[in-house]
Amino acid sequence: MTLAGKQIVVGVGGGIAAFKAVELVRELQRRGAKVRVAMTASACRFVGPVTFAGLTGAPALTDLWDPRYPGEAHVELAEWADAIVVAPATANLLARAAQGMADDIVLATLSCARGPVLVAPAMHERMWRAPSTQRNVERLRADGVTLVGPVKGALANGSVGEGRMVEPNEIADAVQRALRTHDLSNSTVIVSAGPTQEDLDPVRFLSNKSSGRMGYALAAAARDRGAEVILVSGPVDLAAPSGVETLRVRSAREMQHAIDDALPRADVVIMTAAVADYRPADPKPSKIKKQGDSMSVELIKNPDILAELGKKRTGKRPVLVGFAMETNDVIAYGKKKLVEKRVDLVIANEARVAFGGDDTQATLIDHKREDTLPPMGKLELAHHILDRVKLLLGAAPGGATRNRRGRAPRAPRPVRRPRGRSRSKA
Ligand code: CTP
Repeated sequence: MTLAGKQIVVGVGGGIAAFKAVELVRELQRRGAKVRVAMTASACRFVGPVTFAGLTGAPALTDLWDPRYPGEAHVELAEWADAIVVAPATANLLARAAQGMADDIVLATLSCARGPVLVAPAMHERMWRAPSTQRNVERLRADGVTLVGPVKGALANGSVGEGRMVEPNEIADAVQRALRTHDLSNSTVIVSAGPTQEDLDPVRFLSNKSSGRMGYALAAAARDRGAEVILVSGPVDLAAPSGVETLRVRSAREMQHAIDDALPRADVVIMTAAVADYRPADPKPSKIKKQGDSMSVELIKNPDILAELGKKRTGKRPVLVGFAMETNDVIAYGKKKLVEKRVDLVIANEARVAFGGDDTQATLIDHKREDTLPPMGKLELAHHILDRVKLLLGAAPGGATRNRRGRAPRAPRPVRRPRGRSRSKA
């Protein structure tokens, strides 16, 4: 029983998938959790509160003004909950949660959560893809909310599309993952993410297709496991994760400076960034004008940030993790990079599956073994990588259990703005 002793609030939103919330409650209970339920008014149109009361042995809360709770029901419920999971989460519920609204029992409870919050969206594909919904989802992610799904499948109206709620047992898995102990709480992790941009002139640059999603997922996962996280990000279209120190950079050399500055604090460096190997040798101060039928640009080599970290490391700190994004011979190249860059772990993946989307597939290669994982979401892969990092930290002298600086957990840092790059702590 893997959720033994845990107390979970299930918030039920008003969609047809509300009937699956009944199965979710049962699944959480099967895993040993105590469950209480809060419902929106529209959820009550799909399933009766009596069903949940019968299953949980406690009234399902449907009203912020419930006279049975003379105190503040939402505060009491949030205080009781080790985790809150909203399933199904409608587009409307996501929008209100993203705004921090608290005008019903589900939203009010969410707004004073003391532990992980998960939401399992369910809606028509067009509603899910609507820019407003995606904006709200990004906001919630940045606020530390874990999105579980949706997935592609049969929707309520019989059509097939992305918008179907994830099955209850998978939602229960996600709750379990979210409640993982803070096993990295004495570690500082630097994660690099996204592409770099190398200027040709004031309006043009060389770059690549990296979305930054893998690095942002790693930063959020490490934060959730209690690490102090420094995210060094190239230009991407993602909101800075809350509770993470985010340094924004553009070029490979800016990225290297940012990492070098943060290095004395680091126990782990994870390089997910797709760093440009070359940059224009002679970037022009004004716009390059059109010339003949062809033109060539001389490129010079950028520093290999990871290889230089590997070269200058004495001992086993920081633990170094690299990515090997390949189009062919993925594992062979991954092993080569492990040795040549003198790192502890390489995540080898194929560009076709790794670039852009939310899902990926990877092989973890260290000096003892290689594990090919099944396809999975980037957040899930991030946790697999951190499980391995945790082992590597434990193996290094001084282990992950020490508290080198006797540091209080994550005090806010002063905001500095070094020249040429911006810093935010969202
Ligand atoms: N890397 C780096 N600095 C660079 C290039 C790559 O730190 N200038 C890091 C990446 O962040 C990644 C690892 O090295 O963790 C491997 O990057 P990849 O682009 O796959 O390999 P390269 O070393 O650039 O080799 P190639 O492009 O020939 O595959």
